[in-house]
Amino acid sequence: MKKIVVIGSSNTDLIAKVKNFPEPGETIVGTEYMEAMGGKGANQAMAAHKLGGNVQFITSLGSDSNGKSALAYYKKEGLNVSSSLIVDGVASGTAIILVDEHGENCIVITPGANNKLSSAYISGIENIIEEADILLLQMEIPYDTVKKACVLAKKHQTQVILNVAPAMQLDNEILSTVDVLVVNETEAETICMAKIENVGKEGIVDLLLEKGVDTVVLTLGRNGCFFKNKEESLCLSAYDVETIDTTAAGDTFCGALAAELGRGNSWEEALKFSTAASAICVTRMGAQPSIPTEKEVRDYLKKNMAYTLR
Ligand code: RIB
Repeated sequence: MKKIVVIGSSNTDLIAKVKNFPEPGETIVGTEYMEAMGGKGANQAMAAHKLGGNVQFITSLGSDSNGKSALAYYKKEGLNVSSSLIVDGVASGTAIILVDEHGENCIVITPGANNKLSSAYISGIENIIEEADILLLQMEIPYDTVKKACVLAKKHQTQVILNVAPAMQLDNEILSTVDVLVVNETEAETICMAKIENVGKEGIVDLLLEKGVDTVVLTLGRNGCFFKNKEESLCLSAYDVETIDTTAAGDTFCGALAAELGRGNSWEEALKFSTAASAICVTRMGAQPSIPTEKEVRDYLKKNMAYTLR
């Protein structure tokens, strides 16, 4: 089993279910409220862990009550966060999330301690990146921190999986270090400064490959995903499920992909597993509470064989 290191954000999510999103200046009544652990880094680390990966998570938390609760939660779940940063006098990250009746969300993050995860801190844990087989990253910590981690991973031949969420442009130096780029349509368009309606889905993936990335996974929500590298390409459809909350569906997909690649499974197996994991995720409320276990995903794959590969 390969060792997966995830470096990224940790948030406490404050979630309200609403019928429709409010207009500016409007006060509306929610139908449900919950608090749960979130943050794209933490969600992906927890997903890879619950889905059977050998995971270490590096994050930054404040020493406030949210930070303490987060640490207690990770400990209870058995997720290794032993080399994470704890910062005094800074609030732990939070996210305010509205989820509408279609399961779509609006998210406001307040990074707090996540912004204290510096490139200097990453230099100090170079040995952890060196010993890892896979490094999984997102864009909810400072850009230079992500870049430093990518450069160190490249130096030590650690495979880099980068999920460019939230969407932002990337410089060529980062792109040249990336083995697997996981992006949704908005993220791909932002990086390429091109519209899918003009260049097509495969066209945008080709533009990303031309930038030096080895493999691209374009996630398409209800329409599945498209994968391409120099050797092969695959298009997978998504499962038709009743969507309650799409929060962390992309994170679950990325964590599942890392877990599967960590087991040495093929791209086709890994993409099917990840698609099933995120299908289960959207049927439940919240980020980390909605992540399935490996057994749930294997059972789901057995029962849902009517899976189409186009
Ligand atoms: O991707 C979902 C996550 O985005 C939430 O858990 C929230 O914390 C924000 O980081």
